[in-house]
Amino acid sequence: MDLGAKSFRAVVLERRPSGNPVEQDFRVVELPWVPLQPGQFRTRNLYVSLDAGFRNWMNEGAGDAILPAMPLGKPVMGLVLAEVAESLHPEYRVGERLMARFAWEEQSISNGTDFIARLPGELRFSPSAYLGVLGDTGMSAWFGMEIGSPGPADTVLVSAAGGAVGSIAGQLAKLAGARTVGIVGSEAKGHWIREELGYDGFVLRSGEGSLTDGIRVACPEGVDLFFDNVGGAVLEAAISCMNARGRIVLCGAVAGYGAEAPLPGPSNLFDVVLKQLTLQGFMTHLRHERYEEARAALASLLDSGQLKNPEHLLEGIGAVPTAFADLFAGRNFGKTVVRL
Ligand SMILES: NC(=O)c1ccc[n+]([C@@H]2O[C@H](COP(=O)([O-])OP(=O)(O)OC[C@H]3O[C@@H](n4cnc5c(N)ncnc54)[C@H](OP(=O)(O)O)[C@@H]3O)[C@@H](O)[C@H]2O)c1
Repeated sequence: MDLGAKSFRAVVLERRPSGNPVEQDFRVVELPWVPLQPGQFRTRNLYVSLDAGFRNWMNEGAGDAILPAMPLGKPVMGLVLAEVAESLHPEYRVGERLMARFAWEEQSISNGTDFIARLPGELRFSPSAYLGVLGDTGMSAWFGMEIGSPGPADTVLVSAAGGAVGSIAGQLAKLAGARTVGIVGSEAKGHWIREELGYDGFVLRSGEGSLTDGIRVACPEGVDLFFDNVGGAVLEAAISCMNARGRIVLCGAVAGYGAEAPLPGPSNLFDVVLKQLTLQGFMTHLRHERYEEARAALASLLDSGQLKNPEHLLEGIGAVPTAFADLFAGRNFGKTVVRL
């Protein structure tokens, strides 16, 4: 990307997705370069992170305290790895690398009030790792497993187990000595999480029998810790298989993001009472002050070869719409990142 060029490319929201997003919901456009105002800086965006959760803000009237609803025809908000290319802002220097909540675009202008996490001056790992295993999704696995606190006596079940968060969550539980079982969308992903990520077993989320039966077969001693990325019917099935005093960590509910109507709640919530379960949700970006600690812990596991960083890496801004839609079709193995 030539920063002196008079235009740059961005992916805009062409129409509001109906259900799961498809490529045609987005369009790549050329936007005009504009000069900086005092107090602003411009970034060259090096990588775009694809995160299923951003689907939530694509619906009409979806705005909340985290983000406003995404406007039609405007660049889609996401997470990017960016380098400061030009600065009229006293706190941002040219050359600094940032993980920032900027749009899917080749360059961004900020006044510093966006959600921004600074990256170390020297990157020890590939830059894309700072959006995946060392970024929001890897840290979500780390914070979530800190809450769930798996140990050698536990059977840990993870949903969307081969995705960005799930692929790291399962490895962390295994490193803590637990037996790990993943829920996945396909046989191919099941074999991959077992052979590549060290999961002990897998269950298909829409296999032949019921999901509850599938979990019972894969977890004959019951589930002590469920790390949930999916919600809905998957959460309901897991609750039925929990052991007494089990823990459920609620990381996300991707099954609901593209749903036409809110997902019905689990019909078996009384099991939570009977089994004395603990359910806890968390938001990673609200633990911003602990990013360095989480990143350092994950980096040390990567360094020692105990943790793998599975990536689904694509090239060029034109790949972004398909890459996002693929998350909802379950086509990604590991963290999806697009290099610009
Ligand atoms: N709490 C936080 O702060 C935080 C931060 C980051 C992410 N998250 C959450 O973590 C979860 C995973 O996000 P990610 O970005 O890492 O995505 P991801 O797991 O890489 O991709 C999404 C995966 O979910 C599964 N999936 C997609 N649509 C589904 C559906 N309708 N029903 C069931 N499963 C479906 C697919 O796997 P299979 O086809 O293999 O099942 C897909 O590969 C999301 O819920 C996200 O919101 C939470």
